[in-house]
Amino acid sequence: MDLFKAAMAARENAYAPYSNFQVGAAIRGASGKIYAGCNVENVAYPEGTCAEAGAIAAMVAAGETEISEVLVVAGGASQITPCGGCRQKIAEFAARETVVHLADLSGAIEDVTVGNLLPVSFDKDHLVGS
Ligand code: THU
Repeated sequence: MDLFKAAMAARENAYAPYSNFQVGAAIRGASGKIYAGCNVENVAYPEGTCAEAGAIAAMVAAGETEISEVLVVAGGASQITPCGGCRQKIAEFAARETVVHLADLSGAIEDVTVGNLLPVSFDKDHLVGS
């Protein structure tokens, strides 16, 4: 699958000397183009960024603001799910039905939706009438 390939390639470049936990993410924009990212850690730990954030930044920099599909890949005992902050970041550009593929290094994939990951979320409707 093309998203898995792109996420795995980005993961190879992950900068994770503190956690030694490399993550790759790939997003398909509405145009069909794929944007990838990896985690980039920092000696000042909170300054590190997640793979999903990198992929979203690449997508927006390319002029797209609609996510049609996401894939996240990492090692470990089982597939990871995006952290809380990344769920909110993904939700900004995706629909509740948008699929997030959770992959392990072998390519085994479990699917969830943005709505599954972030139910009862704070969204744009809450700003209306404020
Ligand atoms: N990480 C991600 O890149 N994405 C996630 O969804 C979860 C965690 C990174 C952050 C940190 O560099 C490392 O994984 C360990 O938490």
